[in-house]
Amino acid sequence: MSKPNVHILGTGSYAPEKVLNNADLMRMVDTTDDWITTRTGIKERRVAGPGVATSDLATPAAKAALEAAGLDVLDVDLILLGTATPDMLFPSTACVVQSNLGARNAAAFDLSAACSGFLYAVSVGKAFIESGTYRNALVIGAETLTNILNWEDRTTCVLFGDGAGAVVLGRADEEDKTGTGIHAIHLHSDGDLTKLLYMPAGGSRIPTSADSVEKKLHYVKMEGREVFKHAVKLMSTAMEETLADAGFTPADLDLLIPHQANLRIMEAVAKRLEIPNEKVFVNVDRYGNTSAASVPIALDEAVRSGRIKPGDLVGTVVFGGGFTWAAAAVRF
Ligand code: COA
Repeated sequence: MSKPNVHILGTGSYAPEKVLNNADLMRMVDTTDDWITTRTGIKERRVAGPGVATSDLATPAAKAALEAAGLDVLDVDLILLGTATPDMLFPSTACVVQSNLGARNAAAFDLSAACSGFLYAVSVGKAFIESGTYRNALVIGAETLTNILNWEDRTTCVLFGDGAGAVVLGRADEEDKTGTGIHAIHLHSDGDLTKLLYMPAGGSRIPTSADSVEKKLHYVKMEGREVFKHAVKLMSTAMEETLADAGFTPADLDLLIPHQANLRIMEAVAKRLEIPNEKVFVNVDRYGNTSAASVPIALDEAVRSGRIKPGDLVGTVVFGGGFTWAAAAVRF
């Protein structure tokens, strides 16, 4: 069995107060509570609203994680932020958070892996700590996805929501024999499938123009069915291979935290892994798909509610645009 070098020292999360439920959406597009609930498991989602940026959600989530870790902000030497909805194209949202926190000793950068951004960022933080370059990394997944939704497109606008989650990573004590920490993380990508889930304009390929706005190219475009099929298959295999790499099997898991995109995807992944639904953490009903924020929010809720207890083995697996997907095995 692997010996983890990097621990999760604390978790935090934050979601905007405004709730948009399925009944509200029924007044906006041609949909029903029944369609949304049976197809996705989503009942409501949080919406940041006008003038609220991703860093405004990321900052309180980061503060909560630092407090849980008992770490002084000046001891943070790296801030990594996974997002598909940065405050602006540059500088990074991580730099905005660094300033908000007063984390004067930290390097800060964003990481773009869509819904997989959080685990990609955890993997980078883990590698930096293991290499000895940094001691304490603040890793954040934060989104204001509702800013890039076409509220006239019922096939996408019912699925997503806003929020932020964070963890503090630190080096394990050399003497620690408990096996606590991150045992393995595997990252994957397939850029051939980019156009199944993407936002076409606003970058260098199609810079923002009156034409790009008129053609509604600044919104999420998605082939839902194709995404669904790939997600189930790739998330299951990634979780299995990551556990195997650390010397575990799915049966060893105390809790599975899948990306909270869709209840049916989560149940299909659990079925493939032969994990009972009782061992699967679900909060998609309350948040919708918050992209890079989904797993860190779920992790924080699971820790704070006591669903994750000391010694538990937790598997987490994500999937998103790119395509990107990733899994991690963590002992708490
Ligand atoms: N309300 C009511 N009807 C809707 C609807 C909505 N919000 N959205 C789509 N429909 C309609 C479609 O227009 C279609 O109607 P038609 O048969 O008359 O053409 C019908 O419902 C079925 O659409 P389809 O897209 O085939 O449904 P589906 O069973 O594949 O479910 C998703 C759609 C999006 C819920 C499902 O494909 C999914 O969850 N995909 C993964 C999406 C995801 O998680 N993306 C993020 C990954 S990080």
